[in-house]
Amino acid sequence: MVIKPKIKGSLALNCHPVGCKEEVLNQIKYVENSKKYKGAKKVLIIGASSGYGLATRISLAFGGSDSDTIGVSFEREGSKRKVGSAGWYSNIWFREEAEKKGLIAKNILGDAFSHNMKEEVIKYIKEEFGGKIDLLVYSLASGMRTDPDTNKIYKSNLRPQGESLTGFTFNVEKESMEEVTLSPATEEDLTNTVKVMGGEDWELWVKALIEANVVSEGFKTMAYSYIGPAVMEGIYRHGTIGSAKEHLEKTARDLDEVLKDEKSGEAYVAVNKAIVTKASAYIPIFPLYASALMRVMEEKGIEENAIEHTHRLFADMVYGDKPEFDSEKRMRPDSWELRDDVQEEVLEIYKKVTENNFKELTDFDKYKTEFLKLNGFKVEGVNYEEDVDLEELSKLKP
Ligand code: NAD
Ligand code: NA
Repeated sequence: MVIKPKIKGSLALNCHPVGCKEEVLNQIKYVENSKKYKGAKKVLIIGASSGYGLATRISLAFGGSDSDTIGVSFEREGSKRKVGSAGWYSNIWFREEAEKKGLIAKNILGDAFSHNMKEEVIKYIKEEFGGKIDLLVYSLASGMRTDPDTNKIYKSNLRPQGESLTGFTFNVEKESMEEVTLSPATEEDLTNTVKVMGGEDWELWVKALIEANVVSEGFKTMAYSYIGPAVMEGIYRHGTIGSAKEHLEKTARDLDEVLKDEKSGEAYVAVNKAIVTKASAYIPIFPLYASALMRVMEEKGIEENAIEHTHRLFADMVYGDKPEFDSEKRMRPDSWELRDDVQEEVLEIYKKVTENNFKELTDFDKYKTEFLKLNGFKVEGVNYEEDVDLEELSKLKP
């Protein structure tokens, strides 16, 4: 089957398994040719199949640390007739490459929010992973969560709080920009978004791991947060998702106390840069910002994609000699994004941008390319006219 990208509005509907492989290999090549660091040897990554979680796994396994990893993710399996999700294949390609190097790369698929998943991972750590982990990276992004105790389903709703918000959003399919107005969140939207994207599940993970005695002395855990500039405040930091991130950051401070006492360990969030991912493409008004930011950071020679940003985070900050923490013990690799000169130029673009000139003023082309690459399209060196053998691919297991 020849696979061409299917996009509906701003939603990608399929992926190219061979392109996904090339993307994993490209990320591996990038870290192999970059600065090396020594970090945790035994790592658990929740949300390991795409975006920042996948980049984290690749950096740790191939960037000098040679980490064994367990990757938890939620992905759609490919069959003989139907292509699976991008993360389904990325898990497989990552494992193949890591195993060639002699590393353990265990993929566990299912719902990270459930008690079952926590039990399955703990059992695996005890029986096959050497009994302890040194690092847990929490990089989950989801639109819904089933509470593991009550089975109640919560759906996040990314909205402003207090008043409505008007902004522009991209339609990648039509290559157009459209104005949208978002009405303010209800109390319930807020509660639900915090329930899904706040720190509750991260805390359940850490407590379950401590309880089961599978964390080492000096154990570290990190989750990824975002702050962003004033132009994004309405939808992000002051929106429902911002409240969820505040909750996540408070969870980090609480867990830090617990771990200090129990394991001489630590917990913190890293506030990462805005990049194009499956999750971020979904945030209203975010794509325009991402594409303006790319334009400005590119011109200044400081633009980073997922692997570049993540590898710098680990090599320079987490395991390097240039950690940047703010007064709330949040690690701040986003300091480049938030530089005054960067944000002043983003603001200039915002003042002039219209439905007619957005392709010239922002880097829409690059935004679209990055968007397509998430699903293995537009990757250099891949022949997209060639047949993809789904039957062969369906024999590969995570
Ligand atoms: P992503 O969509 O690329 O990755 C999400 C991951 O979570 C995938 O591996 C997916 O399989 C997994 N997942 C989703 N639901 C799951 C479930 N129920 N059980 C198990 N796994 C599940 O997203 P991303 O952008 O890499 O986001 C990761 C984290 O980074 C989020 O906390 C996000 O807020 C944060 N972050 C993102 C950006 C950005 O610009 N993309 C910036 C700063 C911080
Ligand atoms: Na991720």
